[in-house]
Amino acid sequence: MIKMIDTILQELTSEAFKKEFSLDIEPCSIVFTPTKKEFEGDFTLVVFPYMQQCGLKNPTELADRIGNYVVSRTETIESFNVIKGFLNFVISEKYWLQFLQENFKNETYGYSPLQEDKPIVIEYSSPNTNKPLHLGHIRNNLLGWSVAEILKANGYAVKKVNLVNDRGIHICKSMIAWEKFSGGETPESCGMKGDHLVGKYYVLFDKHYKQQVGELMAKGLSKEEAEKQAPILLEAQQMLKNWEDKDEETISLWKKMNSWVYDGFEQTYRNLGIDFDKVYYESETFLLGKDLVQEGLKKGVFYRKEDNSVWIDLTADGLDEKLLLRKDGTSVYMTQDLGTACLRHSDFDSERLIYVVGNEQNYHFAVLKLILQKLGFEWAKDLYHLSYGMVELPNGKMKSREGTVVDADDLMEQMVLTAKSQTEEHGKTEGFTEQQALKLYRQLAMGALKYFILKIDPKKNMLFNPEESIDFNGNTGPFIQYTHARVCSVIRKAEEQEQMMVKSLQPDKDVTFNDKEKEVLRVLYSFPAVVRQAGKTYSPALVANFVFDLAKSFNAFYQDTPILREKDECLKTMRLCLAYFTGTTIKTAMHLLGIEVPEKM
Ligand code: ARG
Repeated sequence: MIKMIDTILQELTSEAFKKEFSLDIEPCSIVFTPTKKEFEGDFTLVVFPYMQQCGLKNPTELADRIGNYVVSRTETIESFNVIKGFLNFVISEKYWLQFLQENFKNETYGYSPLQEDKPIVIEYSSPNTNKPLHLGHIRNNLLGWSVAEILKANGYAVKKVNLVNDRGIHICKSMIAWEKFSGGETPESCGMKGDHLVGKYYVLFDKHYKQQVGELMAKGLSKEEAEKQAPILLEAQQMLKNWEDKDEETISLWKKMNSWVYDGFEQTYRNLGIDFDKVYYESETFLLGKDLVQEGLKKGVFYRKEDNSVWIDLTADGLDEKLLLRKDGTSVYMTQDLGTACLRHSDFDSERLIYVVGNEQNYHFAVLKLILQKLGFEWAKDLYHLSYGMVELPNGKMKSREGTVVDADDLMEQMVLTAKSQTEEHGKTEGFTEQQALKLYRQLAMGALKYFILKIDPKKNMLFNPEESIDFNGNTGPFIQYTHARVCSVIRKAEEQEQMMVKSLQPDKDVTFNDKEKEVLRVLYSFPAVVRQAGKTYSPALVANFVFDLAKSFNAFYQDTPILREKDECLKTMRLCLAYFTGTTIKTAMHLLGIEVPEKM
């Protein structure tokens, strides 16, 4: 196996510092960056930071001495040039050829071998069961799934888990409204997806609640009093109490409505291409949380107020007081998270717990981590909240049926329709059967949606623009999918014409690469480092930017370099191998984003 260029450069540069300047500099501390487009070269060292240590005033002299030392000691580096303190190294043709030979048919290029470590548990999705999934959940699910795959590619064992908040006041609100106003309708009787039906009653609850608050205020109550005393809210609260007391009727209604919701969620997850290794239910972990609260009380970590509620005081840590059990003894959101975290850690003997949850819960997770640490759980120091920003549609686009949030199912359906009309317009399904065409629309629709969302740094708020996301010429999923199909078509034609498999070719000794080919090689070369960095920073955006660069550089190469029409057999073979390598790497990178790539379009 050839050595990585970075390693070669780091080792030789460190040696050069030692021999030329008697300086000890750790190889791994020396950073090389891709050479700027306007200069000649592949990898660049900026020498300014070393000038003082070397006792030199002139950066060019310093760069020249290091450059000469390095070039005279390896065949990997062909030459160097110096521009204002930038030392640019040019990689030899021989190295690139060897790199291509060794890697072009490696199906796991970019992946690290599996480490024998404890697993990382990553939680994502985590819906409440009172309404369907919305656009925010889409970002959440995509991020969670993608980060899990990226971590796997980095050699970690990963467990993907979901937490369903299936109990609590929010569900009781849907339940009470259904009991009062539904006339017994079910998903079957009304033909509505189960999660949407339950969501409909949650909205109805709110409507009646607001109305009752208005009525009470008209009778002279303050807003605050009215909000506390609205009869329908009291009924929902009573229902929650009944639920915790295991009242049979309440439990059976709860089970029934939750099962409708699960059927609905399952369909949405399937359409999104999302899955889990294990699903946790709050109803099964909140009691564990309550036990932990008792333990914390004994240890003096928590305290009880006069009204019987239980709290922790985190003011000394710069946070505030946090409720852990209500005065009626019912548990809160935090209670179950304490239980769930401990259960999860012991279920998997995990190395790290990651939570993909929106940034509106930053505070919640800071508190969760701190409480667990105060309870004495060592492992809690590695609990990580992967916090992400809001996602919205441009104004006026696709209001959901409830008028407030964008529904996940509606959005996906809309995307498939847009993909269909765009694809037909570009004539990209000629000769397809209806089934093949449908599959392609779905692949493009989901590719557009996923890519557009994942290419943005998770921390940033974002605007999802459906039309822009599906543009075949921009920084989009479909552009990359199209590039993949183009690569596949070249390979297919070559294999048909010459009755061979590109996989079994061997790029030859004596080829030289043109600039466009070298650019493709450079981008391909960076992939393993990109995967590592994406894993370290939990950022699918890095993988998305990489695969866009790869598609762009391939298209630039393909545009003015013949492949099938090339007369020189050596060049043709090399280009076919380069195309093949590009195709598999696009596929791998897109897989890390959860995006399928068509072979034809
Ligand atoms: N179900 C919660 C919500 O919709 C999010 C749960 C996040 N995960 C957790 N372990 N607290 O707001």
